[in-house]
Formats: sequence, structure tokens, C-alpha cells
Amino acid sequence: MLDTFVKGDVGLPGAELEPEVRDLGRKLGRSASSSRGAKHAAYDRAMTLVAGNEELRAALFRLVDVAPACANPAELAEHLAAYLDGVEAGGLPLILGLRAAGSPRLHTATGRGAAAAVRQMAGRFIVGETIPEAVPTLREFWTQEVATTVDLLGEATVTRAEGQAYADRCDRALVDLAEAARSWPARPLLEADSAGPLPRVNLSVKVTALTPLVRPEAPERGREDARHHLLRLLRRADEVGAHLHVDMESMDSRELILDLVLDLLDRPEFADGPSVGLVLQAYLRDSEEILDRILERAAGSGRRLPLSVRVVKGAYWDHEKIEAAQNGWTPPVWTEKVETDRCFERICRRLVDAFPLVRPAFASHNLRSVAFAATYARQAGLATGDIEIQVLRGLGDELQEAIAGAGFRCRTYCPVGDMVSGMAYLVRRLLENTSNASFLASQAAGSDLDELLRRP
Ligand code: FAD
Ligand code: 2OP
Repeated sequence: MLDTFVKGDVGLPGAELEPEVRDLGRKLGRSASSSRGAKHAAYDRAMTLVAGNEELRAALFRLVDVAPACANPAELAEHLAAYLDGVEAGGLPLILGLRAAGSPRLHTATGRGAAAAVRQMAGRFIVGETIPEAVPTLREFWTQEVATTVDLLGEATVTRAEGQAYADRCDRALVDLAEAARSWPARPLLEADSAGPLPRVNLSVKVTALTPLVRPEAPERGREDARHHLLRLLRRADEVGAHLHVDMESMDSRELILDLVLDLLDRPEFADGPSVGLVLQAYLRDSEEILDRILERAAGSGRRLPLSVRVVKGAYWDHEKIEAAQNGWTPPVWTEKVETDRCFERICRRLVDAFPLVRPAFASHNLRSVAFAATYARQAGLATGDIEIQVLRGLGDELQEAIAGAGFRCRTYCPVGDMVSGMAYLVRRLLENTSNASFLASQAAGSDLDELLRRP
């Protein structure tokens, strides 16, 4: 199999990277699987259950779709309970638990037991309900040479009061995290690259949680509201020496988020800080044009700090496909997984080539994607510390250890909040990892590692 793979690549541009990509992928794969324990049994059972139950997958898709229209978490929970009502539970704790979690009316003894199973599963993804609860884990990661970015759960708020409350929580989190991080031990790899210092505190925010007004049909109102909150967070991040990373969401907010962040960074007050990042989604057909725009703006800006760019594949694939089909549009996303994987690698190369104008961060649990990015960076002459590999808490736990163990800077995305605010996030994780295109699902099903490391 390996021979076929190597021969098949000969003559393609970049083929010379392949032996090293494969070696690194195998090394990371071996060390990740050796640290896999029984601690994730509840989640693994849930994955198997969702993968094998089309009705349940459909109910979860509907939930993700309706989430932005819910007025509050309780309403979202009610929808969840309603959708799951139609699903054959068959005594399965996950379904009973999700129902119980979704509706206080279903808090029976069985429901409570099952809800505990779901809480255990959510506990895999969420590091704490509050910042003080999360701090010990963040500190432990840091001590083990793993950096973090904190995500305060919540998205798609419906009222301006909710947006204000989310902005207040982010503001408070920046202050509290900065205070906590002061006593963390020195970790040189996590604290600087050859372009300069890297903040210990890193917060990821979602613009749709800051304002209910992110609507393509009324962009000006949304922009003003979001600008107001982001401006305050940028100033706070600067004051406490933290990094602010703006997540990317579905297509309907993409332009607004991109323009808003790039425009704000042009303000002279941010010429020397704070450290800021954006996200590029490789599943979008036009993602390389977006990268052109980002690089052009970064080159033309008066900022003396590099912009961090986190390349991901994209978490809203099903949503984009369904929305395009409903409106008779061509989907903005690639429809073959291999196209997304190839685009991810093209973007990785371009980000590496653009360093230190931008700081490249490769966010993926796919060993091939990660090994490719790290290998390309090394062969392009970047120091190990000039790139960052990022994983999600709960999905990338074993990979996190393998990446840090191999001497790379790993940053783990750590959601903080309660289970109900995290429902849309949890459901996205369940859906993407039970799709048969998923790297983690293929790996869990026992696919051959060399096959998984093949060039896309
Ligand atoms: P893989 O299994 O290699 O890839 C799965 C991905 O491939 C799917 O998520 C989808 O994007 C794509 N895909 C699946 N099926 C198809 C198909 N038929 N055709 C084309 N493409 C397909 N996502 C965001 O959108 N915004 C963010 O801000 C964001 N932040 C993240 C931060 C971190 C640290 C990490 C690790 C991920 C983040 N993500 C974000 C999620 C990310 O986009 C992916 O959903 C997730 O990482 C799974 O991709 P993978 O490379 O790990 O796995
Ligand atoms: C999401 O919320 C990780 O930002 C990504 O799905």
C-alpha cells in the first residue's frame, strides 16, 4: 500500500514532502493512540450511537438549524426535547439524557441518571462552567507545555441584552484570566516565536454572540453593535496583554466579521497591540480569495504585530449545504471532502510562506493535515516555534499530548459554560465526528493509518 502511495505521488508538485509527512503522521498517530484511555467511554458510546441512528442525526441537524432563532437557552432546550421525542430511544441513555437535559418536565429518576451520562459527555468538551472553575485545567495544560484559547460558550444571541451580557463575560474573563496566568511557570515555547512575544491568555469570541443584529439584510446595524463590543474587548485585551481571536461562523456572518476585524485593526490605537487572530475556513470555495484579502490588508496595515490566522476546515458544512439547497444556490462549500483537504493544504503553504506577516495556526485533528502543515513549515525554513497546531478540547486530547511531546506548540480550544449554552457546540461536534467523511471517525473505525495519511 505504501509503495502505491509513494509511486502515485511521484511527479506531483510537493511530492518530496511526502516521506516526511508520512513519518511525522505515523509518529504522532502512535504517540496519540498510546495515551488513549477509557476516560472517554461515554462520548465514544455516544458517537457510535449517533453514527448508527439516522433519525437521531436528523433530529440533531434540525436542532443546529433552529438554534439561531431561539430566544434563549431554555427555548433551545425545549426544541431539543421536542425533536428527540420522535426518536426511538430504545432505553439508550444518550437520548434519554438529552431529552432530560432539554426539558425540566422530564426530570424523572431515569432522566436524571441519563442526564448525568450526558453531563459526563459534555464534560469532555467543556473545561468548566465558569472561568474560576476552568482555571485549574488551563494551568495544568500550561504546565504540561500546552497553551489554550478559552471560548465562552454562547452564540447567535437574540436580544441586545444577551449580547451585552456576553460582552461583559468576555471582558471579565480577560481580566480574570490575565490575573490567574501571572503565576503560571515560564514556558518559553508557548510565550514567544521569532516574530515576538505571545500572550499567555488567549480568548476566542463569536461575533454572533455579541450582537443579535448580524443579518445579511441589515449589515449596518449589526456592524455598529458588534463594532462597539469588539472595540471594548480589543482595548481590554491590550490593557491586560491578552490575545483576542475572532472565530468564523456560517457564511451569513462571514463578510461582516472579516471587514469589521480588519477595519478595527487599522485604527492607530491598535498599531502595537493587542495580539489578534482571525479564522479561515478551507471548506469554502472562495477561501483562497479571502486569504488574498487578509494578506493584502495585513501588508497594508500600520500594525507592528503579525495577525494570527487559524486555518480550519469549517464547522458549518451541513448548515451551508442545507441552506444552499433550500435557496436554490450553489453551495459555498466544497462538496467532496478531498477538495476541502486539498484546499486546507494550499492555505497552510500560503500561510507559512507569508510568515511573519501572519502567524500560522493549523487547527485540525486530522493527522495528515497536521503532519503536512508542520512538514511544509519545516522544509520552508520556519523554526518549530513559528507555527502552532490547535485542537479542540475533548476531540484532540490524545493528539494534544502527541503534538506537545513532539516539541510543537499546541493550543487547545477550551469551551467554558454550561451544558445548555454549549448545546449547539456539542451537537456540531457529534455531527462532524459521526459523518463518514470524518478523519476521527475513520480512525476510530480502525482504518489503516498509511491510507489515512495519503495525499488528498
Ligand atoms: P477532518 O475529518 O479531516 O475534516 C472534517 C471536516 O471536513 C468537516 O468539519 C468539514 O469542514 C469538511 N467536510 C466534511 N465532509 C465534507 C464534504 N463532503 N465535502 C467537503 N468538505 C467536507 N470551525 C469553524 O467553522 N470556525 C472556527 O472558528 C473554528 N475554530 C476551530 C478551532 C480549533 C482549535 C479547531 C481544532 C477547530 C475549529 N473549527 C472551527 C472546527 C473545524 O472547522 C472542523 O470542523 C473540525 O476541526 C473538524 O475538521 P478536522 O480537520 O479536524 O477533521
Ligand atoms: C465551533 O464553535 C470550534 O468555533 C468552532 O464549532
